[in-house]
Amino acid sequence: MEYMESKVFVTRRLPGPALEMMGRECKLEVWPEDEPPSHQMMCEKVAGVDGLLCLLTDTVDKEVLDAAGGGLKVVSNYAVGYDNIDIAETSSRKIPVGNTPGVLTETTADMAFALLMAGARRIVEGARFADEGRWMSWSPTLLLGEDIFGSTLGILGMGRIGRAVARRAKGFNMNVIFSHPSSPVGTSIDAARAVSLDELFERSDFLSVHVPLNNETHHMINGEVFKKMKKTAILINTARGPIVDHGALWEALESGHIAFAALDVTEPEPLPRTHPLYTLQNCLIVPHLGSASIVTRAKMGVMAAENLLAGVMGRKLPNCVNPEVYQT
Ligand code: DGY
Repeated sequence: MEYMESKVFVTRRLPGPALEMMGRECKLEVWPEDEPPSHQMMCEKVAGVDGLLCLLTDTVDKEVLDAAGGGLKVVSNYAVGYDNIDIAETSSRKIPVGNTPGVLTETTADMAFALLMAGARRIVEGARFADEGRWMSWSPTLLLGEDIFGSTLGILGMGRIGRAVARRAKGFNMNVIFSHPSSPVGTSIDAARAVSLDELFERSDFLSVHVPLNNETHHMINGEVFKKMKKTAILINTARGPIVDHGALWEALESGHIAFAALDVTEPEPLPRTHPLYTLQNCLIVPHLGSASIVTRAKMGVMAAENLLAGVMGRKLPNCVNPEVYQT
C-alpha cells in the first residue's frame, strides 16, 4: 500500500521532544511566531490537514473545522482545559479531541499556592517597595499581611488540581473546606470537608478556584459572591479567567469587600494593560503561568503529540475528552 504522509498543523513551537516525535511520522507545519495565528490564519493553515495540534489560545470552532475539510482526524489540545474548542461541533463530526490531564496537576497547584502566599504576605508589594528605594528601616507596621497557618482555605472544585492544593494546605496547617458537584455537603476528601457554596464563600480566608470553564461556571464568582466573602479574604484563580466577573472583582477590591486577588488567568488573555485591575495595589496578575515549569511543559508536549499521532493513525487517543466519537 502506498505510504501516505499525514499533514499536521501545529499552532506554536513546543518545548521538549514533541515536535521531533510528530515530525518522524507526519509532515508538520509549525506556526513560527510567539503570538497565536489569527482566526483567519488558522482557517487558512488547517485546510486539508489530517491533524491539528492547538493551544488554549486558539479557538477551534465551526469555521475552523469547516476550513479543515473532511480529512481532519484529530484535534489535540496542548492543555488540560479545552474550553477553546467547540466539543459539540467536533463530536458531531466524529473528530476526537485530546488533552493533557494529570501532568500539570502538581505544577499548577504549586502556582496556586505561590499566589496564595504572595497575596497573604504581600511579596510582590514588598519587592517593589525595596526595589523603588523606599525601604528606610524595619518598621512594626510595614506591609502587614495575613497568617496562612491556621486559616481556612476554600477550594472551589475538588478535582485533581484542587486536591493537590488541599494537600499543600495541610502541610501549612490550614483548615480546608471545599465545594464539588459530586461531593455531598458533610462528606470529606483527604480530611477536607465538603460545604455548601454559600458556606465556602462565607468562611474562606483564601478562596482558590479550580473548576473548569463552562456555561455553569462562567462569571460564577460575581458581585453576589464578593458580598458573601470576608473583607479579609484573598481570591486565587489559576483555572480560567471568565469564571470571575472582572468588573465585579474590581469593585470588590476597590471598595474593600475582599482584601486581595491573585490571578494567573484573566478575561481576556492577555489582559490589556489599560484594564482597571492593573491600577489596584491589591490585585496581582501574572500571565497564565500555572503549568509553566520546564519539565511539565515538555511532558504536556509529549502527551499532546501522543494524542495527535494516535488520531492521525486512526487509533483511540490515549486522552480523549469526547469518547462518544468512538461509539458506533
Ligand atoms: C491548561 O492546561 O488548561 C492550563 O491552563 C495550561 O497552563
